[in-house]
Amino acid sequence: MIKLGVLCSGRGTDLQSIIDAIADGKLNAEIAVVLTDKPNVMALERAQKAQIKNLCIDRKKFDSKADFETALLNELKAAGVDLVILAGFMRILSPSFVHEYKERIMNIHPSLLPSFPGAHAHRDVLAYGVKISGCTVHFVDEGTDSGPIIMQAAVEVKDDDTEETLAARVLEQEHIIYPKAIQLYVEGKLEIVGRKVISTP
Ligand code: GAR
Repeated sequence: MIKLGVLCSGRGTDLQSIIDAIADGKLNAEIAVVLTDKPNVMALERAQKAQIKNLCIDRKKFDSKADFETALLNELKAAGVDLVILAGFMRILSPSFVHEYKERIMNIHPSLLPSFPGAHAHRDVLAYGVKISGCTVHFVDEGTDSGPIIMQAAVEVKDDDTEETLAARVLEQEHIIYPKAIQLYVEGKLEIVGRKVISTP
């Protein structure tokens, strides 16, 4: 069984979609550990409720990013994690961390990459005035939101959307495609060829 290590920063609804997909038998994986970079966030409560090992590695308690990432890596390795899942984890991982789990880190981003990378995707989408947005599951490389794309889903942007209404519409799709993308990985169906991901039938 593939062991997942899920990294979160907040509310944890993407985490919940993975917990639920496993419970429903749609995702054949085990969440070995949930780690957060902040204390007292809902993601920890969700993990607790599902009886999954969970731990806050509080970024504020570390002098450097390197020390913080070493602590994360130690926990992931101790839990025997095969695939790292970034689920609303609002920090950029350094190249050395990415190398440790090369081609074994997935992220979900709330826009149709390569449009609107970064921390304020919905705000940027609304400011630009695009008519379609969505979400993207991708492998993490050394850049920001730049790795090979695994799966995307589109949603309409409405004239009266706010960041909140758009985020809610996109989240519905996130909760569908993230577990599916992880299941493809579990089935060994994702092949990275250059910057493309080919999903074999
Ligand atoms: C999700 O919309 C996810 O795509 C986004 O944060 C939200 C987390 O929601 N991630 C990023 O913006 C990463 N740069 P959640 O805490 O309810 O899962």
